[in-house]
Amino acid sequence: MEKVTLRIDASKRSYPLGDLYGIFFEDINHAADGGLYAELVQNRAFEFLPVDNREYHALTAYYAVGKNTRITIEESEPLSQKNPHYAVVEVEEGIGGIGNEGFHGIPLKAGEDYTFSVYAKCRKQPKLTVTVRLADKDGNLLAQGRLSVGTAWHQHRLMLHSAKDCVDAVLELVAEGNCTFCIDMLSLFPSATYKHRMNGMRNDIAEAIAELKPKFMRFPGGCLVHDGSLNRGDRDALYFWKNTVGPLWERAARRNNWGYNQTLGLGYYEYFLFCEDIGAEPLPVLPAAYNPHRHEAAPLEELDAWIQDALDLIEFANGNDMTGWGRVRAELGHPKSFRLKYLAIGNEELFAPFIERFPYFRNAIKEKYPDIQVISSVGPFADGEDFDWMWEEAEKAQADLVDEHYYMAPEWMLKHSHRYDAYKRSGPKVFLGEYASLGNRFKNALAEAAYMTGFEQNADKVSLACYAPLLCHKDYVNWRPDLIWFDQTRVVKTANYYVQKLFMNYQGAYHLSSVLEGGSFEKQPLPDISGQFHFESENEEVIFHHICVNGMEVGTDVIFRKGKQPMLFLQPEEGHLTLDFEFTKTAGKRQLMVVFGKNESGYYKWEIGGWANDMSCIGKSYEGSYGLLTVGKSITLEENRRYHASLVLDGRTILAKVDGEIYHSYTEPETVIEPLYHCASIEENGKIYIKAVNVKAESVSTEFSVEGAKNTFRQVVWHLLASDDLKAENTFEEPDRILPAQKTFCIEGNAWVTELPPQSVSVFELIE
Ligand code: AHR
Repeated sequence: MEKVTLRIDASKRSYPLGDLYGIFFEDINHAADGGLYAELVQNRAFEFLPVDNREYHALTAYYAVGKNTRITIEESEPLSQKNPHYAVVEVEEGIGGIGNEGFHGIPLKAGEDYTFSVYAKCRKQPKLTVTVRLADKDGNLLAQGRLSVGTAWHQHRLMLHSAKDCVDAVLELVAEGNCTFCIDMLSLFPSATYKHRMNGMRNDIAEAIAELKPKFMRFPGGCLVHDGSLNRGDRDALYFWKNTVGPLWERAARRNNWGYNQTLGLGYYEYFLFCEDIGAEPLPVLPAAYNPHRHEAAPLEELDAWIQDALDLIEFANGNDMTGWGRVRAELGHPKSFRLKYLAIGNEELFAPFIERFPYFRNAIKEKYPDIQVISSVGPFADGEDFDWMWEEAEKAQADLVDEHYYMAPEWMLKHSHRYDAYKRSGPKVFLGEYASLGNRFKNALAEAAYMTGFEQNADKVSLACYAPLLCHKDYVNWRPDLIWFDQTRVVKTANYYVQKLFMNYQGAYHLSSVLEGGSFEKQPLPDISGQFHFESENEEVIFHHICVNGMEVGTDVIFRKGKQPMLFLQPEEGHLTLDFEFTKTAGKRQLMVVFGKNESGYYKWEIGGWANDMSCIGKSYEGSYGLLTVGKSITLEENRRYHASLVLDGRTILAKVDGEIYHSYTEPETVIEPLYHCASIEENGKIYIKAVNVKAESVSTEFSVEGAKNTFRQVVWHLLASDDLKAENTFEEPDRILPAQKTFCIEGNAWVTELPPQSVSVFELIE
């Protein structure tokens, strides 16, 4: 077994770790509606529209109860013009009404109370008794109550007590005889929300988040914030925070760019409250008057309104009740400031329109609120010419922090664990606002842990970091991997979650230097690129001309129509490929892709015009997950222009050109596994944490030596996350396959030896 020594210098607190580890909440994968936001009724305001999702309509998730019931949607006498639709339920005879099936069933727990509310009125008669009932799918009654409904809109409330557990109950409102009633804002909340807040959060999900002990929470999203129309009144507008505060029925439902409807019941006030409840600093992201997905920006002469939104948000969070927005917050029930200190302008903004607009925001904010740390953006890639350009511009604009985002393969994380060693100490700090390795297997979690030691080792440059995305409902997957999975009743904490939890729970207040002695570096063999290739396109039509493989023409004037099916499938010589072709995009605004080196373990992909038809990138899919290897120059493919492209593969080197210009000259490096990935920190009270990640398949005997400490440590609590199966993951069927274990032992002289198991993440907590 290999032996190493890890020396911790406890005599000097190198630099503060501040708010290093946090979380990123975005309403993606039904993370809010149907997830953290505890509302159990889906489409409570009858505002689901096809613009949110092509399959939606105003009665999505509803059904008629009884044969003689007719349900229509009206908007002539709305509760609010902002949410104009309501349901009119006409019962001809017998018992009839309307039912809601929640988000794939309403979960109920025996003995628990549920707060029901609805706006209702009746027609035909002055008063109508409407029965509210919760039932299982077979019609067995679980709870019921009665409302006496009059002819004007009025909010009715009831407490319903569930008789039994049920994972997929329905909520029904029924009446008897020849009657008509109208309903809107139908709502059912468990009384046991997180911290018992009204309009609150689902307890089990909120607790899983709170257990992480995040220092900050980035919200309300990434693409959700900046992908939409620039007109704040539009249904598919960018995310405007002012649309999310105030009475629930006045919050106009919004098209969520992840393909569903956002009620905005979880709005800015609720986000701030939740941050406070879990002890996290709020870190809101505001749109920068620019939508990089659609390449649309608000004119500079209209920028004031956008900047005012930012200033008003700070006032809403921090202002006293003598200020306009501070008073709004106080009247909502929170007179105290939320102590906002971070504000991000833009999510993944790239290019000149953002560079031009960001300084206006930054300068106006700093002028009025010099203590607010303003965060700029460098786009969705880990590197490349545009990444460098955006960083330079963020420095020029004197951003306090720069928001980097990348989703990469676990091998990438191991290869780049020293990424931040090379960053400058001066200038803006790094806010790693989104990152993940591409999976929820133990292998991914292990690579993330190794990579995260690099944040702590460089915490004088990396100020904040959060994994993304945080939550995913198993039936509504927009994006994977995710940190926490859930369905109506269950929460699955991934291996990645436990890594985040270990790093967050034992972050410490200051970095301590740790130096490793001994141990060997292990190179992982990487074969030459070889295998089949084919073309893919997201455009309606592309014509390929003169496709030449190793000098031989194999096809010309081949028309490729929309669809992701491969267009050509050829087997070039092993180890060497020269592919030369011309193409014309005759219809479509998107990228063209060349898949190459395709074999049993994966493939490589050249994305010409990747992301939003912006960039040339090369990615790799390996063991089922796809991540970028390298980002080249920007390229936007134009329609009806003929391009000449070539791709040369030689060993592990890729040379990619368009119209004679080199876009990539890249040699894929081997992964080198270090003897140990490590870092150490100290709390204000002198408690020390040491993190050690052993990625190798062998144990490492490690002598720990804590030098220069004022305290004598007698006990060590060892938190260990390990698995001999790199493919293992926690699932709904096996949620506890990977769990941290804990062991306490005694030490003398601030030193001890531990055998770190193969493929393991260890945190040692030193106690006096
Ligand atoms: O985290 C998922 C998405 O990834 C975010 O919305 C976006 O910022 C990024 O592209």
